[in-house]
Amino acid sequence: MQIRSLGLKIGFSIALFLGFVAVTELSAASVTADDFKAILDHDSAHLLKQLKDGSPDKKGIIQSKATAMLIAMYAQKQMDGKDKTRDQQLATLRDNAVKVAEAVSSKKYKDAVEAAKLLSLKTAANPSAKTEAIDLSKLAKFEMFELMSPLKKTSGGGLNLESDLKEMADKLKDASKVPGLAARILTIAEYTENMPTDTGSGKKSVANWKKYAKMMKDAADEVYEGSKAAKPDLKKLQTSLGKLNASCTECHNVFKN
Ligand code: HEC
Repeated sequence: MQIRSLGLKIGFSIALFLGFVAVTELSAASVTADDFKAILDHDSAHLLKQLKDGSPDKKGIIQSKATAMLIAMYAQKQMDGKDKTRDQQLATLRDNAVKVAEAVSSKKYKDAVEAAKLLSLKTAANPSAKTEAIDLSKLAKFEMFELMSPLKKTSGGGLNLESDLKEMADKLKDASKVPGLAARILTIAEYTENMPTDTGSGKKSVANWKKYAKMMKDAADEVYEGSKAAKPDLKKLQTSLGKLNASCTECHNVFKN
């Protein structure tokens, strides 16, 4: 009798725990439509600039492909199944962004420029674009060194994310630039999870890769959410930014040379 009621209690606790896990999954920050639009406008202009009218340099080739893949993921993550018309528009944007990356990958830079000009929510939606999520990490022969390139400094053709992150983790005066930074790093983390590189045994296990990628993603999520509070707590936000920065270092210590 007692054993049975203990069993019930355990069963109930597990159910509660699973419910909690499901809820936490759902409450992960999703990037607001306004932040998405600002990021899209900025990054699509950055991409076109990197393509230099169809004659990109070495850095531009890497950066334009990576930026296109980020745009594809931003768009896909905005699709929420609530508004069919908007989802169709976002799926079209995603597919055009993948086209840019594929054109760059096959050295068709003029085609990449033409496709890059379509990376706006004003482009007419393709009625046959699939509104289901697809595994973007497997497309356009996307590689880890490309994925990480937008984190590099502006002088290296990047989006300066690593320097901005370090600066903000060190000293945060206002939160206005935090959402853009966090949303981009969150997107990079979403790819990172699915792109284990140079894994093997021991410390370099796939499980460890996934662990560090999750740390990066969770911290980026926490930073984004903190930055969207009506009155962001700068001290707390700075702590979260520090956590995000630590996730980079921890993974690099094991997996980057
Ligand atoms: C799960 C592992 C992992 C995480 C987390 C991670 N990185 Fe990386 N990063 C790598 C690997 C591996 C490379 C080397 C890729 C290559 O060259 O093939 C790399 C390369 C880079 C590079 C390019 C360096 C160069 O000189 O070419 C930058 C910049 C970078 N990472 C920044 C960051 C930042 C900033 C974060 C955190 C916000 C981060 N990374 C999180 C694994 C990770």
